[in-house]
Amino acid sequence: MPAPRTVLLTGAAGGLGTLMRALLPDYGYELRLLDLRPVEGEPDAVVADLADREAVREAVRGVDAIIHLAGISLEAPFEKILTANIEGTYHLYEAAREEGVERIAFASSNHAVGYTPRPRGDDPLIPVDTPRRPDTFYGLSKCFGEDLAQLYWDKHGLETVSVRIGSCFPEPTSVRMLSVWMSPADGARLFHAALTAEDVGHTVVHGSSANTRLWWDLTSARALGYDPQDDSEPFAAKLVAEQGELDPADPAQARLGGRFVTDPPIWPH
Ligand SMILES: NC(=O)c1ccc[n+]([C@@H]2O[C@H](COP(=O)([O-])OP(=O)(O)OC[C@H]3O[C@@H](n4cnc5c(N)ncnc54)[C@H](O)[C@@H]3O)[C@@H](O)[C@H]2O)c1
Repeated sequence: MPAPRTVLLTGAAGGLGTLMRALLPDYGYELRLLDLRPVEGEPDAVVADLADREAVREAVRGVDAIIHLAGISLEAPFEKILTANIEGTYHLYEAAREEGVERIAFASSNHAVGYTPRPRGDDPLIPVDTPRRPDTFYGLSKCFGEDLAQLYWDKHGLETVSVRIGSCFPEPTSVRMLSVWMSPADGARLFHAALTAEDVGHTVVHGSSANTRLWWDLTSARALGYDPQDDSEPFAAKLVAEQGELDPADPAQARLGGRFVTDPPIWPH
């Protein structure tokens, strides 16, 4: 596959989309932007709902690759997750197949495996093939997205890197985040690797920086050529002083998904 140049960035108005809009052009990409909401300062952005199949197909036409960030990024009633994350991701993959796009980087999440106990002491890092244990309907939608990506690779030869993102923000804001933080610069490095590595088929990777307090294994991400440069540890002293170390007896601090595991569920209504 030739190196992609024109890339559709869905969810471009969101937090991660805004960070990636600033960083990815330095890698030589021309970004086409899509979001449900207008993208500030970007009058050419496509304002469309993933539910609109025609608009999605038009947005996909002519791009070399897609970074798929759009969707609901927290827990929500199942019907909303179904429309935005499950049906929306299906519409995007169908459009990509119909338009011959060869590579997608899919923003999956740690919440696809959020019930996995976090390592303590000398426990091994969580492997990328750990069994799925979604902690929310949101996490369940990311499991669907990963399986959809596998199906479209096996059936149609459309390649995907599913990036199980930890927390990509300018700075970590909690003690838990020290273990799963991905700096924006490392996020851009990882998406670049996901778009340019050869023969990825469908590959699942963990998305974080090389944190001292890392909980999960970055081997499959590094195999794509990802070379993380950042570590959350410089933020640790302040956060631990404010919040204390994580308490393994607290169910909200014992598993990879953190509070998503224990927050009251949002049931259909
Ligand atoms: N930021 C993180 O640390 C993190 C961690 C794990 C996973 N992720 C995933 O990465 C992606 C981006 O995360 P974020 O933090 O920027 O979220 P965000 O909520 O800030 O942005 C999501 C964007 O998607 C758009 N969107 C929602 N539904 C849509 C639809 N039906 N059609 C078109 N656009 C729609 C929203 O308008 C929003 O701008 C999400 O898929 C999220 O689940 C992010």
